[in-house]
Amino acid sequence: MSSESFENLSYEDRTFSPSETFIGNANAKSDIYDEANKDRQAFWEKQANRLHWDKKWSQVVDWQLPFVKWFIGGKLNASYNCLDRHVLEGRGDRVAFNFEGEPGDTRTITYTQLLSEVCKTTNALIELGINQGDRVAIYMPMIPEAAIAMLACARLGAMHSVIFGGFSADSLLSRIQDADATLVITADGGYRKGAAFALKPAVDEALKGVTNVKNVLVVKRTGQETAWGGRDIWWHDLVDKQSDKHNAEFFDSENGLFILYTSGTTAKPKGIYHTTGGYLTQAAFTHSAVFDLKPETDVYWCTADIGWITGHSYVVYGPLINGATQVMYEGTPDTPTKGRIFELVEKYKVSILYTAPTLIRTWMKWGDEYPNGSNLSSLRLLGSVGEPINPEAWMWYREVIGKNNCPIVDTWWQTETGAIMISPLPGVTATKPGSAMRPLPGIGADVVDDEGKAVGNGRGGYLVLTEPWPSMMRGIWKEPDRYKETYWSRFNNLYFAGDGAKLDKDGAIWLLGRVDDVMNVSGHRISTTEVESALVSHEAVAEAAVVGAKDEMTGQGIVAFVILRGGIEAAKGDALVKSLRDHVAKEIGPIAKPRQIMVVAELPKTRSGKIMRRLLRDVAENRAVGDSTTLADPNVMKLISEGLKSGKSED
Ligand code: PRX
Repeated sequence: MSSESFENLSYEDRTFSPSETFIGNANAKSDIYDEANKDRQAFWEKQANRLHWDKKWSQVVDWQLPFVKWFIGGKLNASYNCLDRHVLEGRGDRVAFNFEGEPGDTRTITYTQLLSEVCKTTNALIELGINQGDRVAIYMPMIPEAAIAMLACARLGAMHSVIFGGFSADSLLSRIQDADATLVITADGGYRKGAAFALKPAVDEALKGVTNVKNVLVVKRTGQETAWGGRDIWWHDLVDKQSDKHNAEFFDSENGLFILYTSGTTAKPKGIYHTTGGYLTQAAFTHSAVFDLKPETDVYWCTADIGWITGHSYVVYGPLINGATQVMYEGTPDTPTKGRIFELVEKYKVSILYTAPTLIRTWMKWGDEYPNGSNLSSLRLLGSVGEPINPEAWMWYREVIGKNNCPIVDTWWQTETGAIMISPLPGVTATKPGSAMRPLPGIGADVVDDEGKAVGNGRGGYLVLTEPWPSMMRGIWKEPDRYKETYWSRFNNLYFAGDGAKLDKDGAIWLLGRVDDVMNVSGHRISTTEVESALVSHEAVAEAAVVGAKDEMTGQGIVAFVILRGGIEAAKGDALVKSLRDHVAKEIGPIAKPRQIMVVAELPKTRSGKIMRRLLRDVAENRAVGDSTTLADPNVMKLISEGLKSGKSED
């Protein structure tokens, strides 16, 4: 029996240092780690001074494990920090958003214009009776009004609860009920994959349930037929007539900013609750240090939807506080062509691109002709978030998108952490493909074994956070016990992130996937990520998902599902499967050789792009496929099961 919590199987010795010019111009220099180590509180105080405070805090931090407060006694307004400050300081004409609708309609919104739209919306919310502390549900497509609605809530000290537009009426209802929202802001619909989809009917359906919602404010986006009831109000009827002046009030640093629901191990989603001062401090600091934003010259594009934490911290709060010029895109990356994202990079001269491994691997699958069809020379920095990025996907991102000219920042964090925790600093770190490298300055992270002891370099275990951080969640909405149980009961005094990780011989951190997904083969705990990365390092493979399936001999056996790269024929059949198995054995050892490999056209993913291995385990163990309601595309499981019946894929 192995005593390791996670095996350390793969090895990577490629490193990439930033260029001298990048180092010279970087926002964050190498001395920043020492500065933070010397005095963490002083470091975070300095970062808090990036914000405008109406009243300064009297105490930096109050840590009563597991509850934390930051910048106690300070007063500020989130919306003021994102907008008014830029206008007052003469930056009002700078473009905040270059919006591109999927059908090709565009809007250019300056900071002055964004401020006046937010003020009008704030005045509309006041007319609807919204006060500080109230909860407002936002269920929108990716259009500027989504950000405007969030900022209007924040301006009033009300909390937004953004629910991703792809969620069903049931999911919407349970989230409205849990937060006890009194207003829903939505749209008639939006555009996706070349067609209009509807949103308002799901709101109507949800509100058949018991709620305290008094009004539904509806943006007209598509102009489709929309059923109308007494509580419904068109955005243009109410917002357009309001004054574009509103004096922001300043709220306590610990005033609630938002709730964002994230799925947990039980069916009930967790309402992750964030407050204002600490959250904004870390969002602004990390956005500047990790993305190296130069607000006067950069064009920044984070492709995340506003319905996810990445959209909150790195589309709305971080970038706007830092005065960024952004691209916001409504639709899908394959509409009307698979080159859409690259065409937009060229059109808007995007210099910083932040996206997810799922999209990077999809681009690999589609083939290089799409990125090669656009001029991507404006890019100077690339980011990744959401899942471990396989070393080969990282290399492809670097070479084909970044033309070997852009540092890559692989950023590890969670809805719960609020902002980036582990990442290279682009002008400091020599990066290794596939590693998130080390905790940011001011952050404490480590890898521990089952007993909570540090594993040391060269070994695998559980990722933990060792120090409270400013943008830490303040709890699970109305569920303090669940909060303690989920994050603070596994180890003493340490935050349990739920991810496996290892430290390589140099102490760089490698994320190994969720601990719930770990496979146990003959007593060895093997990470899904390492086997997947080994598969993706084969020239034929664009994407892979592996799971452990019951095995009489070994406890669990490794079953792999792979998607081939553009141009590779699936017909290679048995020979291909054999070469993949041998390749894994060669890359990381015979113990990790998949028992079975299936070539599939798609993988089941959540709406935020994470692979749902639980469903693949059902297939691998020949069970009926379990609850798949959170799948982005409900047909995928049918396709996988049918494909398996029709073709022999075992070797
Ligand atoms: O498993 C880790 C993975 O995503 C989880 C957090 O998901 P969510 O709350 O939806 O937030 C996603 C955006 C921050 C983590 O527990 N994850 C996120 N970033 C990375 C990652 N895994 C590996 N590498 C990353 N860079």
